[in-house]
Amino acid sequence: MRTEQPAGPHVPGGPAATAVAHPNIALVKYWGKRDEELFLPRTDSLSMTLDIFPTTTRVRLAPAAEHDRVTLNGRPATGEAKRRVIAFLELVRERSGTAHRAVVDTENTVPTGAGLASSASGFAALAVAAAAAYGLEQDATALSRLARRGSGSASRSVFGAFALWHAGHSGGTAAQADLSSYAEPVHTAGLDPALVIAVLDAGPKAVSSREAMRRTLDTSPLYEPWARSSTDDLADMRAALRRGDLDAVGEVAERNALGMHATMLAARPAVRYLAPASLTVLDSVLQLRRDGIGAYATMDAGPNVKVLCRRTDAGRVAAAVRGAVPGGSVHIAGPGPGARLLARDGR
Ligand code: DP6
Repeated sequence: MRTEQPAGPHVPGGPAATAVAHPNIALVKYWGKRDEELFLPRTDSLSMTLDIFPTTTRVRLAPAAEHDRVTLNGRPATGEAKRRVIAFLELVRERSGTAHRAVVDTENTVPTGAGLASSASGFAALAVAAAAAYGLEQDATALSRLARRGSGSASRSVFGAFALWHAGHSGGTAAQADLSSYAEPVHTAGLDPALVIAVLDAGPKAVSSREAMRRTLDTSPLYEPWARSSTDDLADMRAALRRGDLDAVGEVAERNALGMHATMLAARPAVRYLAPASLTVLDSVLQLRRDGIGAYATMDAGPNVKVLCRRTDAGRVAAAVRGAVPGGSVHIAGPGPGARLLARDGR
């Protein structure tokens, strides 16, 4: 937890709050918005929150300040990252009726912008910390909706283990549509999963997921078929989770992810996140299955591959992946906790 004052001129302190959240990896993906301003997705999605790579965020109101001050890993945030945090604070200010600027300090332990969902943990932690600092009383569902407005996938990191994000409906007013889209926990029976994460390139991505999903929706002839099949994937995923059937969970996750990447490859111009090393890991996953190990791959907006398996197999899967891509770093994650407040003061 980061409690020291950020660098820069001293600003007299107001209420403050610190929160922590973990990234999540979608097993049925969110890819495409039907409303960009409200972050309403085209499809439902379902994810596992991890127990590694937490983000810790402190928000302190600065009544005398003229601007928000945002730091990321101890350095002033710039560009799009800063703009998104400030836009999020505007929303919280509008809802709380408090116009005060804020000092936001974020510590990410996951490589930022590398397709490892740092925006999910980042905005989930920011939602919890900002809501507390600005005095917005919110239950977990409301926090999930709020986090969604920073980054869609953040709605799911509010909850631990498995979470389903409802796309919601759009028939009525904007406020009704907003209310209808949030995540909630999904209960599983007797599943002891691990995700083996191969970080193949920790550098920032060439095309942001936001831009890539927009382009896919606008131009890919494969998008609509994938979105339709995603409904079946979700139903099959929920049934598999209820049964505690890891192989079925993995099969659905893998086909859903490959389908999502197919939609992007068919976009104009194409978006290709997978690198040669990603395909090498996919080959090692096939080999593991031939050897009788239940291992299934999923990939997001970057070259990294996450391999779902039983926790008891995680060591063997990690060794196989390490052997396949000696240059990469490999991490083992289990299901992790939801976002939570660590500290609150001055209110
Ligand atoms: C491929 O939540 O990062 O990881 O809502 O535009 O911030 P924005 O996008 P973001 O997209 C995540 C896409 C994904 C799939 C997923 O997590 O479901």
